[in-house]
Amino acid sequence: MSSPISTEIQGNVLVITSDNPPVNALGQAVRQGLKEGIELAAQESGIEAVVIKCDGRTFFAGADITEFGKTPQGPSLPEVCDAIEASDKPVVAAIHGTALGGGCEVALACHYRIAVPSAKLGLPEVKLGLIPGAAGTQRLPRLIGAEAALPMVAIGNPVPAAKALKIGLVDQLADEGRLAGDAIAFARSKIGQSIPRTSEGTANQDGVKNPDIFDEFRAKNGRKMRGFDAPNAAIEAVKAAGELSYADGTAKERELFMKLMSGNQSRAMRHYFFAERAANKIDGVSADTSLIPINKVGIIGAGTMGGGIAMNFLSAGIPVTILEMQQEALDRGTGVMRKNYENTAKRGRMTMEQVDGAMALLSPTLDYGDLADCDLVIEAVYESMDVKKEVFAKLDETVKDGAILASNTSYLNIDEIASATKRPGYVLGLHFFSPANVMKLLEVVRGKETRDDVLATSMKLSKKIGKVAVVSGVCPGFIGNRMLSKRQEQANKLIMEGANYWDVDDVLLEFGFPMGPFQMGDLAGIDIGWHRDPTKVTTVREALCAAGRFGQKAGKGFYDYDEARNRTPSDEVKQIIADFASKAGNEQRDISKDEIRERLLYPMVNEGAKILEEGMSQRASDIDVVWINGYGWPLYTGGPMFWADTIGLDAVVAGLDSHGLEVSASLRSKAEAGERFN
Ligand code: 3HC
Repeated sequence: MSSPISTEIQGNVLVITSDNPPVNALGQAVRQGLKEGIELAAQESGIEAVVIKCDGRTFFAGADITEFGKTPQGPSLPEVCDAIEASDKPVVAAIHGTALGGGCEVALACHYRIAVPSAKLGLPEVKLGLIPGAAGTQRLPRLIGAEAALPMVAIGNPVPAAKALKIGLVDQLADEGRLAGDAIAFARSKIGQSIPRTSEGTANQDGVKNPDIFDEFRAKNGRKMRGFDAPNAAIEAVKAAGELSYADGTAKERELFMKLMSGNQSRAMRHYFFAERAANKIDGVSADTSLIPINKVGIIGAGTMGGGIAMNFLSAGIPVTILEMQQEALDRGTGVMRKNYENTAKRGRMTMEQVDGAMALLSPTLDYGDLADCDLVIEAVYESMDVKKEVFAKLDETVKDGAILASNTSYLNIDEIASATKRPGYVLGLHFFSPANVMKLLEVVRGKETRDDVLATSMKLSKKIGKVAVVSGVCPGFIGNRMLSKRQEQANKLIMEGANYWDVDDVLLEFGFPMGPFQMGDLAGIDIGWHRDPTKVTTVREALCAAGRFGQKAGKGFYDYDEARNRTPSDEVKQIIADFASKAGNEQRDISKDEIRERLLYPMVNEGAKILEEGMSQRASDIDVVWINGYGWPLYTGGPMFWADTIGLDAVVAGLDSHGLEVSASLRSKAEAGERFN
């Protein structure tokens, strides 16, 4: 097999080039080739400097994640990096695309780094539940200081080339398109000079002089890191870079790295990495299906949902025509959108020019005729089949042939909606999650007649607007809400049997969700869908509304809220629930947190199994992607189906049986056969 690494001697410079599509991951053959390249440079007296560069779309994007968990094949990445750094001829990394993880570590081992302005450098290992494992935690602080290294190692976001230059991570910017030539010239200019080795740098002493930076960083980022093991290990490793010798520091890094690598969190997060990418692939639709150009989008409804959806497209530079029935609603909706953008600008995440630029792409209208030339129209009106069918019939008459017609319904039957048109092949569901400009998840609902190009276009478009898309079949609530309803059903039953509602919420918080179902109810508003008649009380929610407990906005819902929105359980609500329970003749008992957790989460796994059984989800990992991105399921458990695999399907089935809950045929048979979902 030919090596992905080639070498070429250009005068007195050896150019080592990697060509390992798609992202030049540092698999065994790449590592071997790099090591041989450095050995060649050492042997040939005519070679006086070395450039390491990559062909294709990016510099090395990291270790090859598919090798993780398998028997390691030498040379190891730390060995390769050490060989590069030990070279007595200057080695220059020529960076384009994304130098990530192991790729950034190779660059750090080089004596100099030159990058094009569009390049990014980063150590995203924490996002895989890891820390860098090829001395990144030790070389980076020695080069740029512990304070600058901390966010890169413990949060994992890459930095653009200009910032990398500013913090000393790269030495020079190259001209876009002239990287190789600039790198060779730069390498030549360093011949004969003393060689700077990153492992010998002293910038890490900032953390020794001011050790408070570590606690301050922890305090500032505590919420983001809650529940995750890797960020703390990352902080520990960066701290060690200041306190220990380089050799002891790398030994410490290795120890922390190996522990994380063999743990459940990293396994789960690596599962998620591939799950997110697999979700993009649609069964039966070839990857080269020709796409429908989407240059203009129509949105029906300028309410919270419609406005949020529109913002996704505006932010991506796609013009939007937004339609309402009344001028007042239209003005209100577009006003809210501008305000949301302005708030983002206030937080420094957008400039005012960008706000104006996005809003300039918006055309508000009251006239369906203005949607005629849209390539995609998304309906976000009231959840009623009759209303939706009327809207789709009108769209069918107005909008040009070949345009995609989508519904943002969260549970209605897409096939029935499509039947209101003469082009059901062009109809599908695009289910955004609220707030639609923020939440990453998009359920793409495949109707029985939805065409392949319509689906493929929607998946591609979702990436362009920064969403993580998952294909769902047509069933009530699709993947996400269908499973949520099972959790809610148990939450409601549990509080009727004697569980405290705050214990139900706390169990989910302890599991890693950002909030529990009753907190969620308070946040969304208890009065959603309320009939507004305080004398008609048949449910706990209606009783809360009758008592003016509408949720956070009223200062009280399930909980009482203070001005800082801290929640306290309410005696009044506890009494309301107890009254309902006694009227229903429910016996009250103490319910353990273990039982609460099992009854909330196991039925979701069971519903997931049924969703798979019915072919409503293409793969178990798609369900994980839905729950992590749409409902705050903790990433470090890998999503409901991966979590079930981790604790064992037999344990899930035993739990469901012991609580007298439904077990689907497929879940039971998988458990009996000792199988997994993923
Ligand atoms: N190893 C193996 N495969 C990888 C990979 C990696 N590090 N990075 C990406 N791929 C694969 C993807 O799975 C995908 O495969 P598919 O086409 O079969 O689905 C393909 O490459 C293209 O990836 P994307 O769809 O993600 O392409 P994008 O252009 O959207 O993004 C990227 C490119 C920014 C490089 C993104 O792929 C990425 O973030 N990759 C992971 C980077 C990373 O985490 N690196 C650290 C690895 S851990 C490490 O280095 C440990 C070290 O410290 C010892």
